[in-house]
Amino acid sequence: MKIVVIGGTGLIGSKLVSKLREHGHEAVAAAPNTGVNTLTGEGLAEVLKSASVVVDVSNSPSWDDAAVLKFFETSTSNLLTYEAAARVRHHVALSVVGTDRLSESGYFRAKIAQEKLIKESSIPYSIVHATQFFEFLKGLADISMVDGKVHLPHVLFQPMAADDVASGVARIAVGPPINGIVEIAGPEQFRVDELVRRRLASLRDPRDVIADPNALYSGAKLSEGTLLPGDNARLGETRFETWLTQPAAQIPSVQPQPTGIAMVTEEKESRKKAS
Ligand SMILES: NC(=O)c1ccc[n+]([C@@H]2O[C@H](COP(=O)([O-])OP(=O)(O)OC[C@H]3O[C@@H](n4cnc5c(N)ncnc54)[C@H](OP(=O)(O)O)[C@@H]3O)[C@@H](O)[C@H]2O)c1
Repeated sequence: MKIVVIGGTGLIGSKLVSKLREHGHEAVAAAPNTGVNTLTGEGLAEVLKSASVVVDVSNSPSWDDAAVLKFFETSTSNLLTYEAAARVRHHVALSVVGTDRLSESGYFRAKIAQEKLIKESSIPYSIVHATQFFEFLKGLADISMVDGKVHLPHVLFQPMAADDVASGVARIAVGPPINGIVEIAGPEQFRVDELVRRRLASLRDPRDVIADPNALYSGAKLSEGTLLPGDNARLGETRFETWLTQPAAQIPSVQPQPTGIAMVTEEKESRKKAS
């Protein structure tokens, strides 16, 4: 089965492409640097030829409210139009658990708009809502800085490893369309401020993490259960302590760049993340 992965070079996309290929599918990674741009439509007609399924795990390069809304509205509209012309049978999109409860956030208003376009289109679909990735915990600290300290609410969440996200999305992509939302989550619950503190300690990052009842998450106020999945969520296997021992969790190495400028990989990644 030909499965096109939009954002197939990203954190989740690259893992997803590998997993689908391991299971014998023709998985094609689509992103600007493979010649496919969902904002302009470049390369879309070609890459979708004879595709059965499209999985959208792309993300906006900018977190600015207006930019992220424009990204998800434009790219999703273009995708769905080209998919209809190519007679794609299943559109799968990755979104976030609790998206509908987070409309105070510009990023989540953009995800709500993305989901609305998918639900209103003629293409059978599945929307996968995942909880926060373990890989995103440092990025969460980075976007939660107030006066040099990390301010986070003391509320529950149930984060998961990116590898389990990719496995969960792969399972949905090769099955029939749900025409609804399916939730995937990690095996354990934590307090947001406590787990970010543990993650920073594992990175020997000295920043203080303050439990702050007024702290916002991506611009939205959280209550105790806002980020939690429902009872029917499919759970990944990887526990946080196990993930910490894996290569993805280690302190990133400083990579020399051709120009002589050094860039730390996780710094680069966390700048890009918005959810
Ligand atoms: N972070 C979390 O905790 C979390 C939790 C639940 C769900 N999610 C969702 O997971 C999804 C994927 O996140 P991620 O961290 O894997 O993203 P990522 O690593 O930032 O990857 C984004 C991908 O999108 C591609 N892309 C950007 N602009 C594009 C365009 N115009 N046309 C086609 N492709 C484009 C990128 O290609 P280039 O690299 O070439 O730019 C890259 O392959 C997001 O939609 C996010 O909402 C995230």
